[in-house]
Amino acid sequence: MTATQLSIEHLTGLEGVPARDIELILDTAESFREILERPIKKVPTLTGVTIVNFFYEPSTRTRLSFEMAEKRLSADVVNFGTAASSVTKGETLKDTIRNIEAMKIDMVVIRHSHAGAAEYLTRCTDAVILNAGDGCHEHPTQGLLDLLTMRQHTKKPFKDLRVLMVGDMRHSRVIRSDLWGLKTLGASVAVCGPPSLMPAGVDAFGIDVYHDLDTALEGADVVNVMRIQLERQEGGLVPSLREYNRTFGITRQRLKRTRKDLVIMHPGPINRGVEIDTDVADGPRSVILRQVTNGVAIRMACLVLLAPQKGTLGE
Ligand code: CP
Repeated sequence: MTATQLSIEHLTGLEGVPARDIELILDTAESFREILERPIKKVPTLTGVTIVNFFYEPSTRTRLSFEMAEKRLSADVVNFGTAASSVTKGETLKDTIRNIEAMKIDMVVIRHSHAGAAEYLTRCTDAVILNAGDGCHEHPTQGLLDLLTMRQHTKKPFKDLRVLMVGDMRHSRVIRSDLWGLKTLGASVAVCGPPSLMPAGVDAFGIDVYHDLDTALEGADVVNVMRIQLERQEGGLVPSLREYNRTFGITRQRLKRTRKDLVIMHPGPINRGVEIDTDVADGPRSVILRQVTNGVAIRMACLVLLAPQKGTLGE
């Protein structure tokens, strides 16, 4: 039987989210993809719902696609950036959210540099919390849009899918969310990167770990290429960006030895010429911009399914 309601109240991560919740979000997002193709891309589903977008870290794709999703659903949207707020005067996250809650809000989308910030907010407010990326922990809506893109472009059931993630698993919240979602849906998951960019205890995740990219790419249906997070490196973890590109970069030369129908993904922003070359990122096997389009549909689905006053999917 297909579920019509989520079992979760907040979306703080994909770890522990049951398969039927993930499948419901993906299926609901497919129906929103159709709405996004219409001349008038707006439905009244979240009329009267107030959503605060709380971005404590820079973002292009996630911030804009959440805002676009909220506006497409007719929600009332408030954007909160730290630079022009009393956070700069030392106000705590808890005080900030409690003051905003006093203005009567329903949902909060938060990006924060600290792992666990979204989970912490669930204990500070009655509003529904959606994690838009918290430190090195998780980025669940990115994980979900990655799953939707894989489902669309491989046309294989997840249980038959082999997904390789290349890059900085130590710092990447996207790898973690992809990993939990893919494992829950039964996919085979592998990661590849330098040992210095693997977290301690990586073997406990129950995935294949490679340090040789050509071997790792053999038989992969999807390669999801992660950004080298220059802002989160403690220094010395990667000898040089040129060396990283030579050893772990996705280049046209390297793709000659992979499956012809390999799907190439990247959550963005891209360091061109580092983790992926420009002709691959912009080439025929790349679905990077389709991931971005799916991001709006996934965020619409998450907002509707988690909203306290649910309406019908708008006609
Ligand atoms: N993929 C992603 O999270 O991009 P932004 O940092 O631009 O939101």
